[in-house]
Amino acid sequence: MLSFRQATMEDADLLFIWRNDPVTRLGSHSDAEFDFESHLSWLKSSLASQTRDLLIVEENGLPVGTLRIDYPAVGVAALSWTVAPEARGRGVGKRMVRLAVEMIPASCIIRAEVKVENTASIKVAEAAGLGLIGQEQGCTMRNRLYLPISRFILSLTLYSRWRQGERSFQMRDFSRNRHSRSNSIHFL
Ligand SMILES: CC(C)(COP(=O)(O)OP(=O)(O)OC[C@H]1O[C@@H](n2cnc3c(N)ncnc32)[C@H](O)[C@@H]1OP(=O)(O)O)[C@@H](O)C(=O)NCCC(=O)NCCS
Repeated sequence: MLSFRQATMEDADLLFIWRNDPVTRLGSHSDAEFDFESHLSWLKSSLASQTRDLLIVEENGLPVGTLRIDYPAVGVAALSWTVAPEARGRGVGKRMVRLAVEMIPASCIIRAEVKVENTASIKVAEAAGLGLIGQEQGCTMRNRLYLPISRFILSLTLYSRWRQGERSFQMRDFSRNRHSRSNSIHFL
């Protein structure tokens, strides 16, 4: 089971290691290595921002990735993601991005930019329903293309609780257990 929680300053070391990992830098807009001071000020301003959610994704209590959701305008969410180097290649990326997309209401446009050569991330985006809408400067531009009605209702509920401050919750990967009675979302 994956759980999402809001990042804190205590995650500074973890996020610093993940951000400076060579594969993360290859997949990012800027491949520059960050120094710790700049990273700390980036983290501080991210946590204070009213237009950004910075999430830590945990699997069985262990951090396995991070999601950044920016809200550049009303009704628009820009999504980006990183899986911890040691957790890559076993489906975490696909699951966590799909859950994030399901959590954001269908009324919201979701955008993501993925470099054309980032095959793994393109697969992650496609699996979450983020389809190709164009290509610019070596990046594929992606939007959420569809959301079934059941997920629409679920995402409205999740999102309103999330924005009301109920920011620590766990969710089962309900899309894989869609027909099971246990396929519920658990709020802590
Ligand atoms: C890209 C990234 C998010 C993928 O996460 P992940 O958990 O390793 O991916 P998954 O295990 O869910 O695999 C997703 C798909 O990519 C494939 N894949 C995984 N690693 C791959 C690699 N190195 N090269 C090619 N394909 C790869 C998987 O086989 C899977 O494809 P399939 O569904 O056809 O089997 C992760 O590698 C990462 O954090 N990279 C650095 C940061 C980054 O690029 N972020 C994205 C910026 S847009």
